[in-house]
Amino acid sequence: MSPMLEDRFGRRIRNLRISLTDRCNFRCTYCMPEDGLSWLPIPSLLTFDEVERLARIGVGLGIDKIRLTGGEPTLRPGLEELVARLARVPGLRDLSLTTNAFRLADLAEGLAKAGLHRINVSLDSLVRERFQELTRRDALDRVHEGLRVAAHVFPGDLKINVVVMRGVNDDEVVPFAEMARRRGWIVRFIEFMPLDADQSWQREQVVSGAEILAQIQERYPLSPALSQDPSQPALDWVFEDGRGRVGFINSVTEPFCAACDRVRITADGKMRTCLFATRETDFLELLRNGAGDDAIEARLREAIYWKELGHGINDPEFIPASRSMSQIGG
Ligand code: 5AD
Ligand code: SF4
Repeated sequence: MSPMLEDRFGRRIRNLRISLTDRCNFRCTYCMPEDGLSWLPIPSLLTFDEVERLARIGVGLGIDKIRLTGGEPTLRPGLEELVARLARVPGLRDLSLTTNAFRLADLAEGLAKAGLHRINVSLDSLVRERFQELTRRDALDRVHEGLRVAAHVFPGDLKINVVVMRGVNDDEVVPFAEMARRRGWIVRFIEFMPLDADQSWQREQVVSGAEILAQIQERYPLSPALSQDPSQPALDWVFEDGRGRVGFINSVTEPFCAACDRVRITADGKMRTCLFATRETDFLELLRNGAGDDAIEARLREAIYWKELGHGINDPEFIPASRSMSQIGG
């Protein structure tokens, strides 16, 4: 048996995304209702010991990238301590965080010192009123402040994730491209996927990456980046005048499932081998029942072996995700 984690289609799994909480301090309309969702009880969240144990076992089997997600992972008390513990796991090449940046001004420096390598910030509008409508929080200024501090602490490797939705923020594609040019951050445009809690996703709302690229090209010529990171889903383009880089995550129109190397663990210790999985594998119960590392390893191998071939968003019989992004872990 291969010592590494592999699914039945021969995909090697190297990338583990761990959700630290399902709570969030924003209420993005496409993710959560205004009153929030019904949160997981705190005792059912993986403890830091449990997260670290899963991480060590996974890294021993070839996982070399870990991303901490949520909900909003910066809401998890003691995040810095967890980062420090994970950063010490031998064999882990890349430790990153996805955040809405609301708390970054206070936390970025401590996280970097603790050993965090990179940060991705989710930001869908640069217009104050629209940001407020989208997130139901008047917090754009704080996000900008968080970005400013994070850019200082993680120079050269700050990414901004923008979910583009037709009729909502598709008129901000060029301003976001200009942000990439001006600040040197990599702005990545993500196609809107059927992951919202209230299942209101409509195909017409998807703005394709090709369309976004064409919009930017009209103003600023771009060429495909020569150096593409094969392990990430984004296709990068560089501005021809050498100023900046943007990326496209075309999950709906150009699914990259065949090259997918990732799996997710929810905050309550369930593995989801695909965003759109209809099945989860429980690790919490195993961890709390005194299972040995070999039992955990066996369950990891089994769950990953059955990883879904693809998301099937474009199939007529597609079933939307059973949990929202905040519950799955972005
Ligand atoms: N489609 C695409 N991206 C989404 N995200 C949340 N919901 C969706 C969706 N329906 C994004 C967030 C964040 C990342 C974790 O997932 O905006 O960038
Ligand atoms: Fe991977 Fe599932 Fe996403 Fe496809 S939909 S890229 S298989 S996680």
